Amino acid sequence: MSKILLVEDDALLLEVMRNILEIEGYEIHPASNGKKALDLFVNIIPDLIISDIMMPVMDGYELLESVRVLPNGVTVPFLFLSARTERADVSRARLLGVDDYLFKPFDAPELINAVRSRLDRRRRVELFDTRAAHLQTVIMLANVIEARDPYTAGHLERVRRLALNLAFALDWANEEIVILEFGAILHDIGKIIVPSRVLKKTGPLDEDEWKLMRQHPEAGAKMLEGVDHLKAAIPYVLCHHEWWNGSGYPMGLSGEKIPREGRLLAIVDAFDAMTTNRPYHISMMAKDAIEEIRQNKGIYFDPEIVDVFIRSYKT
Ligand SMILES: [Fe+2]
Repeated sequence: MSKILLVEDDALLLEVMRNILEIEGYEIHPASNGKKALDLFVNIIPDLIISDIMMPVMDGYELLESVRVLPNGVTVPFLFLSARTERADVSRARLLGVDDYLFKPFDAPELINAVRSRLDRRRRVELFDTRAAHLQTVIMLANVIEARDPYTAGHLERVRRLALNLAFALDWANEEIVILEFGAILHDIGKIIVPSRVLKKTGPLDEDEWKLMRQHPEAGAKMLEGVDHLKAAIPYVLCHHEWWNGSGYPMGLSGEKIPREGRLLAIVDAFDAMTTNRPYHISMMAKDAIEEIRQNKGIYFDPEIVDVFIRSYKT
């Protein structure tokens, strides 16, 4: 339940607002001036503050200034609800970092909408921050694994960018894009089981070495199985070496039986492999790699995704 610090010196108005917001399911902490509100703030850490401006002891401006210097107060949504309608008041409040400014007399829907939209925005920002921090951790882990293979430096970052561009061009939903980023970063994480001598080998791999190499999608998928928020990225990890004609690995799936996450990643992974130096070949020009992908459309790669990739690829 979201906690709202409600600051108003008019006891009757405070009660009215309290009722309106409690019916909406918010937990209300009332204060009759800025000073009392500040004491309460430190103890309850509210999710949002609604404050009057003109109050005894400490006014709304002073409260806003004091809250904004506190570690938990920098980002807390702060709404003024005031009878002061002068432009100068509003701009002073804005300069101090107020998030919204409502005028008295207010009506209930206006107040409720303002509170809802601010709380919703705060939740989104928090979610985004958590995801960004999480992605950074995953990138660090994947980079450690990638660093064992000196020939693929920067591969993950390029694959992430290419995959994102392609998913945007395909109009994938936002939720899918979020998972795609994790999938692209983690797709080769299973290579941790492949010894460095195999990864660094310049000549062709022998049968045993190939066998090991071909285990990396399943090994990676297993690593993610126990991690709740990464499970959704498994199709990228498991199926990025499945080919459209069924000749890929680990399961030899064909056509649309291959999850589309795998079909998308197979194209950008192959494109990046072709355009960078590897132990077994020297890099191709982007236009030649695109031609190679075009020629393998319907053989290794999903024909529809290839068309979109070629159309949307930016040099
Ligand atoms: Fe791979």
